[in-house]
Amino acid sequence: MALALNSTLRWMAASDSEKAALADIQGNILDGHGRKATRHVLLRFGEDAAASRAFIRELAPHITSTLEQLTAAKAFREHGVSGGPFLGLLLSSSGYASLEAAQKAPEPDDGGAFVQGMLARAELLADPDAGELDEPYRQGIDAMVLIGGNPDAADSWESTETENAETKVLNILQGRAYVVAVEVGRAIFKDNGTDELGINKIEGIEHFGYVDGRSQPLMLDELVERERDESDGISVWDPTFPLGQVLVPDPGSPSAETGFGSFFVFRKLEQDVAGFKAREEEMGEDEALGGMGELMGATLVGRFEDGTPVVLQRDDGGDNPVMNNFDYAGDPDGLRCPLHAHIRKTNPRGDSVRQFGVSLEEERSHIMARRGMTYGRRDRVVDPTDKPNGGVGLMFMSFHNNLATGFEFTQARWANNPGFVRDGTGRDPVIGQRGSAAAEDLTVRTTWGKRDAATATASFGEFVRHKGGEYFFAPAISTLRAL
Ligand code: HEM
Repeated sequence: MALALNSTLRWMAASDSEKAALADIQGNILDGHGRKATRHVLLRFGEDAAASRAFIRELAPHITSTLEQLTAAKAFREHGVSGGPFLGLLLSSSGYASLEAAQKAPEPDDGGAFVQGMLARAELLADPDAGELDEPYRQGIDAMVLIGGNPDAADSWESTETENAETKVLNILQGRAYVVAVEVGRAIFKDNGTDELGINKIEGIEHFGYVDGRSQPLMLDELVERERDESDGISVWDPTFPLGQVLVPDPGSPSAETGFGSFFVFRKLEQDVAGFKAREEEMGEDEALGGMGELMGATLVGRFEDGTPVVLQRDDGGDNPVMNNFDYAGDPDGLRCPLHAHIRKTNPRGDSVRQFGVSLEEERSHIMARRGMTYGRRDRVVDPTDKPNGGVGLMFMSFHNNLATGFEFTQARWANNPGFVRDGTGRDPVIGQRGSAAAEDLTVRTTWGKRDAATATASFGEFVRHKGGEYFFAPAISTLRAL
């Protein structure tokens, strides 16, 4: 095997065989593609499997490999040269079947997650019934072409680059699959003031207004070193993960040496910004809950809007660069960062080690590479007084070596589970889904950081609605060429 999945990789010093693997693995897996505009073309294949396979073979040479992506990103950093559009192709289990290529599909040990698809996992995930999802997602999706590109201008909603790339894909498609939906993504930003040099700090956010995409597993040595040297460091929370955190051998590839892929989650999550912000503000002003103001929102997410971790500070402003070198060892009972906070539920950074005695390695095995993109039209630098109650949200995307121990574990066993990390913790207020069970209140500590703080309970609604999605695999490019 050309790649050692149990370690990180220094890609700039890769051997020829490692380079061959990086040229075969699709981009966006080991590092985000970084484009600020996306189009997601969701497909179902028809009766003629041979024609659909021919379409994929013809598209394969246009798919962006990891090596191309990393090389282009380096050129962009050094010379400002844009890498052009990004193209990825994801296949679901039903997609492999419709292509009559089931023998090439991965056969993961994941309790049936990949083979069954996301719809069949609704109960486990506490997702809404199929009838409540956006129409295209009421049945399984066979494939997704992921297109990334630059917007026409920094403040423009339009992206001719991604539209042209989509036209190119549709020209190759020539009716050999049905387009069931095209989702359009656009990164949004927050003006985080100016730093000490007077430079304007613009950070990527999600629609509730919080800096997003900061904490990621890093699998390339170059990224780990940049984190170590150019941010707040890696001495407390080590973001270093082996390639095998996301990569698995792709059995469909003609080359066992270079053929690797990754399991991919796509979920369209609509955000009721008006509802979330109103409740957040109401709770912040409620004297019975301590009259915490901004701090209230930070305790729900685990970070202030500017990204400052609430376990480190009771005020925002620690955002240069946004801090990520922390864990909860000094706050085991959630006096500073509540146990229910979104980032603590989805990455407990040692909480389950203390609580259940599992190894840190076991806890870290659930960590995912998030590649989400916001959707829905708002000003690029968001006007905080504009609060839509629908039509905007997050196209949540993530890569895993296993869907059951990665995404499903995080959503079902951690976020949705009021008993994690211990009884009385409550659900994740951002993404926790209760299914049919009754709502449970959050326990709010009315003073930050004080062991003897009074506690009060507060109900919190569900302001993120699942609108549909699918489980996919990102095959090696050699697999696509040989279909
Ligand atoms: C981190 C928001 C959905 C898992 C974050 C952060 C924000 C955020 C603001 C902090 C930024 C960072 O630490 O990088 C949201 C919103 C969502 C959403 C608004 C839905 C609309 C999800 C889902 C999952 C998830 C569905 C997985 C089931 C994570 C993880 C982290 C994170 C693992 C990093 C935690 C850490 O390493 O400390 N999210 N998120 N998020 N989110 Fe979400």
